[in-house]
Amino acid sequence: MSTQLPLRNLAEQAMRRQWFPVARSIDLDTPQSATLLGQRLVVYRTESGKAVVQDARCPHRGADFSLGKVHGENIACPYHGWQFSAENGKCSHVPSLEDQCKIPPQAKIRTYPVIERFAHVWTALETPVNGMYDPAQWRDLELDWLAATPLESPTGVAVAIENFRDVAHFPFVHEVSMGPTKHIVEPLSVRREGLDVWMERPLDAGDGDWANDGDCMMFYHCAAPGLASITYNYEKLGKRIVVGFPSPVAYDHVRIFWGVANERSYRGADLEECLRIEELVYREDMPIAAGIQPREIDWDGTYIEHSVPADLFTLNYRRAFREFMERAKTTAPAFPVDVVAVV
Ligand code: FES
Ligand SMILES: [Fe+2]
Repeated sequence: MSTQLPLRNLAEQAMRRQWFPVARSIDLDTPQSATLLGQRLVVYRTESGKAVVQDARCPHRGADFSLGKVHGENIACPYHGWQFSAENGKCSHVPSLEDQCKIPPQAKIRTYPVIERFAHVWTALETPVNGMYDPAQWRDLELDWLAATPLESPTGVAVAIENFRDVAHFPFVHEVSMGPTKHIVEPLSVRREGLDVWMERPLDAGDGDWANDGDCMMFYHCAAPGLASITYNYEKLGKRIVVGFPSPVAYDHVRIFWGVANERSYRGADLEECLRIEELVYREDMPIAAGIQPREIDWDGTYIEHSVPADLFTLNYRRAFREFMERAKTTAPAFPVDVVAVV
């Protein structure tokens, strides 16, 4: 009898060992609530400016820290005011105790590693298998970022990424935002290396909002499991970016964090306007994505699907995702992260 895990379970386990965004950096004025693969988290910024991700549940009587307050380098529970260290999660103060030496020594909350990048706060539930996303095409650019309002979608990470990167749906889903665009998809030249997939194609601006910006090459990039971007390279204006990073609230439900970035020297629309246009596009996708069955890619082959050459990019993304699963399976066993990683 085979003891192999269904690939669905492997995908879920692998994602516990992956960086995902859990909040926008601009929202950390007050503690934020987040859920990652069913784990309820609190995300906050200490007075010294450090972003922190910890378990949301208070180990006194279970209240939610996201309703609490930051005190210096600690988070205070909203219920009875117990404080816990941002550094190591240990209980540091119990207001009802006259003698603070009597703090229950085991009272502690789990603290997760944190990276702030692309205007978002990222974490991983267990020791990450891969480094944080650092796309080579952006390393030499001076970018200004703007984080969008996150979107909810009842789909898994891979379905959300595929939707973002699919090229054959524009004339059917985006006719309002893009105007009429061509149906036939030219032969795609797709390159994959490990977890990364790239493709270049010219922007077919139709007669929608983008029609007057001149010639533009679109540089598509996906990094499995959870980053998909387009870097638009306009001949006359410079470069701008739209990027999506769906974060799995559950295996088959994502909160899509996303944003835009412009080169500092970009001569086209400002960041707010770029975001407005991209949001129109995103919102056109949402009802279609919400109806896709199954809600996450069918890794175990239960459903019938037929593919054509226009699906080449997404098929390569699936290969990259499978490699991500393999890496998580074959690298050292995951241990719960118990300390804030220095990143
Ligand atoms: S429930 Fe958190 S301090 Fe009591
Ligand atoms: Fe779309």
